[in-house]
Amino acid sequence: MSDTNHILVIDDEIGICEGVKRALIPTGYRVDATISSTEGLELIRKGHYSLVLLDVKMPEASGIDLIGSIHAHDPEIVCIIITGYATVEMAVSAIKQGAYDFLTKPFSVDDLNLAVNQGLERRRLSLEARRTTAAEAESRKLAEEKSRLEELDRAKKQFIRLVTHELQSPIDAIQSYLNLIRDGYVSPDQLPEIIEKCAARADEQRALIADLLELGQMETLTTQRTAALVRLEAVLREVLDSIQPRADSRKIKIILQVEPGIPPVLADPGQCRSLWLNLLDNAVKYTPENGSVTVRLRAKAGVIVGQVTDTGIGIPPEERARLFTEFFRARNARESGVRGTGLGLVIVKRIVDGLGGQVAVRSEVGRGSTFSFEIPAGMDSLEERK
Ligand SMILES: Nc1ncnc2c1ncn2[C@@H]1O[C@H](COP(=O)(O)OP(=O)(O)OP(=O)(O)O)[C@@H](O)[C@H]1O
Ligand SMILES: [Mg+2]
Repeated sequence: MSDTNHILVIDDEIGICEGVKRALIPTGYRVDATISSTEGLELIRKGHYSLVLLDVKMPEASGIDLIGSIHAHDPEIVCIIITGYATVEMAVSAIKQGAYDFLTKPFSVDDLNLAVNQGLERRRLSLEARRTTAAEAESRKLAEEKSRLEELDRAKKQFIRLVTHELQSPIDAIQSYLNLIRDGYVSPDQLPEIIEKCAARADEQRALIADLLELGQMETLTTQRTAALVRLEAVLREVLDSIQPRADSRKIKIILQVEPGIPPVLADPGQCRSLWLNLLDNAVKYTPENGSVTVRLRAKAGVIVGQVTDTGIGIPPEERARLFTEFFRARNARESGVRGTGLGLVIVKRIVDGLGGQVAVRSEVGRGSTFSFEIPAGMDSLEERK
């Protein structure tokens, strides 16, 4: 930090150096002086000067040329030029180089004091302005951070509210069915249907808990810890084995279009399974009987592209933006009677984001949807994560 009262005089006339000292020291300034511009620059680099008085004409260098070097060291040092003859050109050139003012020899003690005081006042104001700007930027940053945290907190609270509600409703339903049975309101012929309803709600609850566990796990496990080079095609074929019976029972044809030689991705194998499972599960469950689901897998320029296209109910355009938020289900999906908790796509997006990839949707109501993802190929992402 520079000393407000510390002044340096660089002038090859020893008389000027002494004169300035005599004039300024009694008014409370600390003054150093040198007749050499080289030594002057050295003192500036080592010292903490607020103001420098510079002679224009010196054997080693012109005072005007020194201003650049002084300001490179500290832009807030006030430079005042001392000159034997003041011309307009010289004044313009000095100001252009960053001089604050100039004094013409011979000058009075009053002239000197006035120039020095004004120069230091300018410096004080400029430092204050700089501090205010920095403080403003800091407080803006803090305000932004605060609103980001508030938003996060709000989203978390909303998530907990939704989870609680979603966990509560199947239990409430099962409990009221059980109460009906216990209190004798269910005839023996109604019993199988009620038991079926209970079982369906219990299944729903289990699926929700499984999704929640998966989401929770994703937050604690880092990809690095569980990452391996995974072949998406092999995982896809495994997942298809488990989906196929469901597709067959609804006469939905699954078509596979896989390019040969797809490179592996660096990922958690369980997450890759979950990625395919959620996309295929949706494609099959939101496609009416006799439809088809086409799965494509290809590689392009360092990324693996996966695509699941169905001939299903589609997603209304106004609802597409909310697809990847917790518990969101489009109106047509809810009205179709197909069960779901609205967490599958959240899981998909988190997995793909975690792998540095992207998810996209194209859809037309009543005609079908295409969900696609792009993930960096294993070797490339391995290089990037090093
Ligand atoms: N292939 C699709 N065709 C039509 N709508 C879809 C499709 N995939 C997703 N959706 C819509 O997006 C919503 C969210 O999907 P998501 O997989 O997150 O939840 P879900 O299938 O309802 O429940 P689950 O958590 O059991 O997967 C669905 O409810 C549905 O409205
Ligand atoms: Mg789903």
